[in-house]
Amino acid sequence: MKVTIYGSGYVGLVTGACLAQVGNDVLCVDVDERKINMLLNGEIPIHEPGLDKMVQANIAAGRLKFTLSAAEGVAHGLFQFIAVGTPPDEDGSADLRYVLTVARSIAQHMDGYRIVVDKSTVPVGTADRVRAAMLEVLEQRAFNAEFDVVSNPEFLKEGAALDDFMKPDRIVIGTDNPRTTELMRELYAPFNRSHDRLVVMDIRSAELTKYAANAMLATKISFMNELANMAELLGADIEKVRIGIGSDPRIGYHFIYPGCGYGGSCFPKDVQALERTAREIGYNAELLSAVEAVNYRQKDKPFEKLQKHYGANLEGKTVALWGLAFKPNTDDMREASSRNLMEALWKQGVTVQAFDPVAMEECTRIYGQRPDLKLCQTAEAALEGADCLVIVTEWQQFRSPDFDAIKSKLNDSVIVDGRNLYSPEQMAKKGITYYAIGRGC
Ligand SMILES: NC(=O)c1ccc[n+]([C@@H]2O[C@H](COP(=O)([O-])OP(=O)(O)OC[C@H]3O[C@@H](n4cnc5c(N)ncnc54)[C@H](O)[C@@H]3O)[C@@H](O)[C@H]2O)c1
Repeated sequence: MKVTIYGSGYVGLVTGACLAQVGNDVLCVDVDERKINMLLNGEIPIHEPGLDKMVQANIAAGRLKFTLSAAEGVAHGLFQFIAVGTPPDEDGSADLRYVLTVARSIAQHMDGYRIVVDKSTVPVGTADRVRAAMLEVLEQRAFNAEFDVVSNPEFLKEGAALDDFMKPDRIVIGTDNPRTTELMRELYAPFNRSHDRLVVMDIRSAELTKYAANAMLATKISFMNELANMAELLGADIEKVRIGIGSDPRIGYHFIYPGCGYGGSCFPKDVQALERTAREIGYNAELLSAVEAVNYRQKDKPFEKLQKHYGANLEGKTVALWGLAFKPNTDDMREASSRNLMEALWKQGVTVQAFDPVAMEECTRIYGQRPDLKLCQTAEAALEGADCLVIVTEWQQFRSPDFDAIKSKLNDSVIVDGRNLYSPEQMAKKGITYYAIGRGC
């Protein structure tokens, strides 16, 4: 089938590569010239495990192409996927400017029936706005073309995106037209073989489903962080509590890890956008506001723990930082806890020596070269001459380090662990002063 995808970011590129992988003819459109030029050369602008090979293989097979031209995109696909960013507006609501720009350009260039698929995370009612924007342009063109708008939210996780797309838990299709249900079913058939994963519903419910999923996951994290802070004050160990509650199948072990807050391109902005949607309809979504507030506070924990150890003034210190990405297996630093920590440290005149297996280029893109940030080639190199170590991303390679080497390299044997990777007992035995989240230390 012929598919056009607007936006070649984490979602658009993965969607394009996976749809091409199963045999579709896919054209990806982006407005970012640098990105498109890289992709035309088979280079991948983001870090996503396995994506480079899949993109290169499908380019070689002639099933995956890239262009800057929206007109070419509209001419190509029966399916027109919108996978552009929906960043937070100044008031926290989702900024739909990119989505509506794409909708208008589809209407500007279309010469016949198209299915417009909203894959970006968009507030309830966006499909109506997409339809209205398209009708306005078609009216200006005095051109009467048929089209359908479908909501097809994406649930992939960065770092495991290919697997999530190829073997989805569910494929949510929001539509008001049985004809599009059948066409979407056909498009997704290769990902729907072992059992029917298609969940078909009305458009508004599909739009809300995506926000509901992210808000639920964010709530689980903030709930555990709230409890972790209480555990600390009560002399309890949140890790024991986690296992104690996770063993209840009604609760489960997923997503109840305490830590220094969630980040990324989705949870923070989606919780915020859902809360703003509530406000717009005159509803006070108190739980969502609390989830957001708890997370905001939690991101300060590593900094607070450093102050607990060294006192309020950290000026002149050098901190080794392991992890920059908002989670392992991605180079995405949007809303990453590392950023809150580094920015707080820099304000106090602290030098940061950081290491991340894949996000250092992204870190340079965001912060540029600065004298108080040293990006190190290895985790060990980041320790050289530093006073203490802070961990904010739970990369696998940080899970079982050589603690004797850490001790010998740091000026002070202090670890602040924002992801609870180590055992406080083991750290005590090694003579390391260890601060974790919700573990009485
Ligand atoms: N990243 C995730 O893990 C994830 C998961 C599920 C859903 N989502 C949602 O999917 C959407 C995209 O997220 P992302 O992380 O892929 O964003 P991204 O920022 O990585 O990519 C967006 C891309 O859209 C391009 N773009 C902007 N305007 C355009 C236009 N007019 N035409 C063509 N391209 C245009 C940008 O240049 C950019 O390359 C968002 O709504 C997000 O909330 C993201």
